[in-house]
Amino acid sequence: MDRNPSAQTARVRTAIFPVAGLGTRFLPATKATPKELLPVLDTPLIQFAIDEARAAGIERMVFVSHPSKSAIERYVRADEELEATLRERGKARLADMLSDNALDESETQIRFVMQDEPLGLGHAVLCAKDHVLPGPVAVILPDDLILGEPGCLSEMIDAYDPQKAGHMVATMQVDEEAVSSYGVLDATGRDGALILAKGMVEKPAPEDAPSRQAVVGRYVLSGKIFDDLEGLPPGAGGEIQLTDAIAKAVDGEGLCGFRFTGTRYDCGSKAGMLSATLAVASEDTEYHAVVGRTVEAADVAVTAAE
Ligand code: G1P
Repeated sequence: MDRNPSAQTARVRTAIFPVAGLGTRFLPATKATPKELLPVLDTPLIQFAIDEARAAGIERMVFVSHPSKSAIERYVRADEELEATLRERGKARLADMLSDNALDESETQIRFVMQDEPLGLGHAVLCAKDHVLPGPVAVILPDDLILGEPGCLSEMIDAYDPQKAGHMVATMQVDEEAVSSYGVLDATGRDGALILAKGMVEKPAPEDAPSRQAVVGRYVLSGKIFDDLEGLPPGAGGEIQLTDAIAKAVDGEGLCGFRFTGTRYDCGSKAGMLSATLAVASEDTEYHAVVGRTVEAADVAVTAAE
């Protein structure tokens, strides 16, 4: 196995955003609005993911979407008419913000690919195969929001060394009862922020979990991942699992976890979305009074229930 790629092919140039999911946990909100466009305060989840990828120097972003979620593409691309209207009405600051947020082909290449059937995360990543640039690829799951500087993907790309491990996954320690919601590393040791691993299992029962190191939605994967996804049979939950393709390549590519420094919010859940919103609001003095009152009201509710 070639563990000595040239610097050029070791650069992470592409990020894949699997955004085809139906978002059933947020119905009815997601009946007409893709979950990736649900806001944390005023910023859609997809924007946080795009900003993180941009900060990490990603050159091409591949969105694996669904035909019913065309609003994502409308959001991601510039809306010159809206920006012009805002400028005419003296709202140049808002227009500038939209223009800064939007992806511009001259800065970042954008590709949209459709995943028509919900066959799993592994299948979603495989759908991007023909659209990625050479070398390793990043995968970002936008409903895992990770706040903090530097961004999680920047940290991972800095730490990525294909000679040590071709596949790197962001990990955090979770409670024993939570392991069955995650991919879990079969950890063998530590090397600074890296967690050395000899395997990975998708959503194990707590009694079968090899560790409590859970994978959250950031991956830096060797380009060989696509070969291992091809023809992979369905795994946990009857879906084609990215975890299984990563685990299959442990001997050839190597695998490590990465302990990121930011705070992760599970914005695929209502509690996580609420926590993220409160965290972002508490950073802004404009909302201090409201956030203070929310916390007080929650305390009152808890006291009343006791
Ligand atoms: C996916 C992955 C899982 C990972 C999780 C992180 O699961 O399959 O390995 O731990 O994302 O959020 P999902 O939450 O989509 O079921």
